[in-house]
Amino acid sequence: MSVAAVVPAAGSGTRLGAGAPKAFVPLAGVPIVVRAVDGLLASGVVDEVLVAVPASLVNQAEELLAGRPVRVLVGGAERTATVRRALESLEARAAHGGERAVTPEGHADIVLVHDAARPLTPPALIASVVEAVRAGHPAVVPVLPLADTVKQVVGSHVESTVDRSRLRAVQTPQGFTVDTLRAAYAQSGVDAVATDDAGLVERVGGTVHTVPGDPAAFKVTTAWDLRIAELLLEGS
Ligand code: C5P
Repeated sequence: MSVAAVVPAAGSGTRLGAGAPKAFVPLAGVPIVVRAVDGLLASGVVDEVLVAVPASLVNQAEELLAGRPVRVLVGGAERTATVRRALESLEARAAHGGERAVTPEGHADIVLVHDAARPLTPPALIASVVEAVRAGHPAVVPVLPLADTVKQVVGSHVESTVDRSRLRAVQTPQGFTVDTLRAAYAQSGVDAVATDDAGLVERVGGTVHTVPGDPAAFKVTTAWDLRIAELLLEGS
C-alpha cells in the first residue's frame, strides 16, 4: 500500500506574529514547512508529499523543497478547503495516470494529513500512524491525555467542568485509507469546515482509531511555541 502525505501550509500564521506565513518562518535556520516535510520523508513510509501553500508562495516553496519527492499546490481559504484541494489533486493525477506514479496504477492507497506547523514530529510517530492504517483502521489519529483541567465557559462565566479523563488532545499526522478520507470530504459538502480531518470522518459516521501521540509533535502557533521548538533543537 503506497502512502501520500498532504501538508497544509497555506495558513497566514497571524498568531505567530513573525511577519510571514507560519510555514515559511525559519526554525533554527530551516523553514518550518521544510522540517515538516523532511520528517515525513525520514519516516521511510511516505512515498510522495503534496504541500499546499498560499498562491503567492508557490515558487518559493518549490525552491525550498527542490530535490524532494514533493509537489506544491495552492491552498484554500480554510484548512478544510486546503486539504480538499490536495485530495482533488491526488484524484486528478490518479485519473490521468500520474507523472510520478506511487503505485503501478498511479495512486496512493493511504493518505496522511500533516500540519506544516508541527515541524518536530518524530518520524517514528508518523510510521506508527501508517502502521495502524495498514493494520486495518481506516482512520487513525495520534492523541495525548490532557494535563490541565478543562472547563466550558460562556464569556467569563464557568458553565461546567469537563471530565478530563475522557479527553484527548489530537495531533497530526492523521492517517486514512484514501477512500475513507475522500468519502468524508465528499459527504460533508464543499462548505464543511473542521479543525481536523478525522472530524469529518466522525461527522459522516466513520470510526476513528487512536494511537499514542508524542509531545514533540506539538503545533507551533505562537512565538512561545517557536521559542520552545528552538530550545528543543539546541538541546538535541
Ligand atoms: O491555523 P492552524 O495552526 O490550525 O493551521 C493548521 C495547519 O493548517 C497549518 O499548517 C496551516 O498552514 C494550515 N492551513 C492551511 N490553509 C488554511 C489555513 C491553515 O493549509 N487556509
